[in-house]
Amino acid sequence: MAHGKTEILMPDDAGVARAARLVADGQIVGLPTETVYGLAGDATSDLACARIFQAKGRPRFNPLIVHLPTLEAAERIADLNATARALAATFWPGPLTMVLPLRTGHGLSPLVTAGLDSVALRLPAHPVMRAVLQAFGGPIAAPSANPSGRISPTTAAHVLAGLEGRIAAVLDGGPCGVGVESTILAPSDTGTRLLREGGLPREAVEGLTGPLVTDTTPGKVQAPGQLSSHYAPGAPVVLNSDLSDPKTIRVGFAQDGPDLTLTASGDLTEAAANLFRVLHEADRLATERNAPAIHVAPIPGTGLGRAINDRLSRAAAPR
Ligand code: TXA
Ligand code: MG
Repeated sequence: MAHGKTEILMPDDAGVARAARLVADGQIVGLPTETVYGLAGDATSDLACARIFQAKGRPRFNPLIVHLPTLEAAERIADLNATARALAATFWPGPLTMVLPLRTGHGLSPLVTAGLDSVALRLPAHPVMRAVLQAFGGPIAAPSANPSGRISPTTAAHVLAGLEGRIAAVLDGGPCGVGVESTILAPSDTGTRLLREGGLPREAVEGLTGPLVTDTTPGKVQAPGQLSSHYAPGAPVVLNSDLSDPKTIRVGFAQDGPDLTLTASGDLTEAAANLFRVLHEADRLATERNAPAIHVAPIPGTGLGRAINDRLSRAAAPR
């Protein structure tokens, strides 16, 4: 799906209008959200959705998240139980995706749901994404704007590095504030399941839902996209390292360097916001210095540390 040249749009009225126009025309566009950049297309268009899968090299069985401007728009597409309503009232707009039963007459392309009878919905908080959703006036399908299996993008430059020439445009809204993808829940009044750790820490959710149900049976894929090797830089990634091997690219936590750091202060929110930028940078340095591996210091497993460790363990998984 070569477009030749990828337009770079600014986060002003003209850029928002142009992005919405391209989406309405069935084109695909990189757009900022508060979590990561999304590769956006009209969720009701088979052509646009096919273009998303094509540009990312994404397996067709892996369904897309649908982004909406309002709760009313969500209610037209899916059934929200009491737990879903409570979660929506507390955490939308924000880094929460809910997998919900599809309603008849939902109008989405069957490519979005990959043939499932459920759909993943999210109301993003990013003002630019919200402005494009308003201007376009319909549901927008948007997976993360990276080639399938690679590191997620948190800047427009990351989007271009992975997809330039394969997408119509990217809207540069600056770096993403949260830095890891949304938390994915399947809300149920009898026990809400956690399908993906993400930008909304589970501790915050459990205050409202009670203990989340996680099924960690090896090989059992909850969200179909949770394939074990993902977010992979070119060089192998080693976790929980003491960073003593100077031949490797060393990524620190709660310290400066030695080569890169997720956070000098030990702040997990800052570490999440920096995660994919640091992985992109580590990948570049590993190539430049011909380093055998990327080593990462241990990260605490609480709050946003859970999502960070989830992404790091996928980056380190055997390919
Ligand atoms: O923060 C985010 O969620 C970003 C931004 C752009 O919104 N999007 C994102 O999309 O991370 P993606 O496509 O990279 O991840 C979507 C995940 C995949 O793991 C997919 O399998 C899962 O959501 N998913 C989508 N529909 C589903 C469904 N009906 N049931 C279970 N999992 C579903
Ligand atoms: Mg992704």
